[in-house]
Amino acid sequence: MLTLAEVAAEPALLTRRVGLGDGTEVVFRPLTHADAERLAEFLRELSPESRRFSTFGGYDLAFARELCDAIARYDKLRLVLEEAGSGRIVGLLELALDLHPSDIARYHEAGIALTAADCRFGPTLADDHQGRGVGTLVFPLVADVARRFGRTRIVLWGGVLADNARAVRFYEKQGFRTVGAFTEADGTRALDMILDLPAPPDD
Ligand SMILES: CC(C)(COP(=O)(O)OP(=O)(O)OC[C@H]1O[C@@H](n2cnc3c(N)ncnc32)[C@H](O)[C@@H]1OP(=O)(O)O)[C@@H](O)C(=O)NCCC(=O)NCCS
Repeated sequence: MLTLAEVAAEPALLTRRVGLGDGTEVVFRPLTHADAERLAEFLRELSPESRRFSTFGGYDLAFARELCDAIARYDKLRLVLEEAGSGRIVGLLELALDLHPSDIARYHEAGIALTAADCRFGPTLADDHQGRGVGTLVFPLVADVARRFGRTRIVLWGGVLADNARAVRFYEKQGFRTVGAFTEADGTRALDMILDLPAPPDD
């Protein structure tokens, strides 16, 4: 089973190239310490709508540095999609390997006992990469990473806003099912969704 320290020491362990079907390619790889500037650019470019759907603690270089400094220090594994050629970051795919007590409590109410075999997932694509099937292309790679960390289920990190129709559809397409609903501090409805990871495809 992989560890965060191993991935930080050797990002190539999880690095893959993915063709987007339009002749362009992205590199799927762990975030590294050298990414702060490019990650800041990605965060800065996110539209107000994307920021509402995927809320971060900041959208600037200081916050990007925080995420880079957090590599292998906490429970988070952050993967990026980097446009081959330009090196521009066009996606941030986050996995949290530890569970938050509030998630445990909400899923408990839904009759689901979260365990150490669960992890949390939150994806964000650059605005110009949304709605083009990119999330669907790369999700199997995320599922594979989760399995390599010994996880057999994935829940949504902080749920998904009920009015985020594209994301809900995206998760359903990947096999997630809705198991509960809750209200955010600002009164917005959000859904909890969970995925039992299917067995890895045969090579
Ligand atoms: C959510 C996200 C990761 C999904 O990735 P994606 O590459 O855009 O998703 P895909 O294009 O692979 O799939 C989207 C699906 O939703 C459908 N869709 C698009 N807009 C839709 C809408 N308004 N209502 C319903 N379905 C919609 C698409 O047609 C597609 O389904 P299909 O393949 O059956 O046609 C990406 O859109 C994103 O980063 N959004 C902004 C941040 C965000 O919402 N993150 C999730 C936070 S929980």
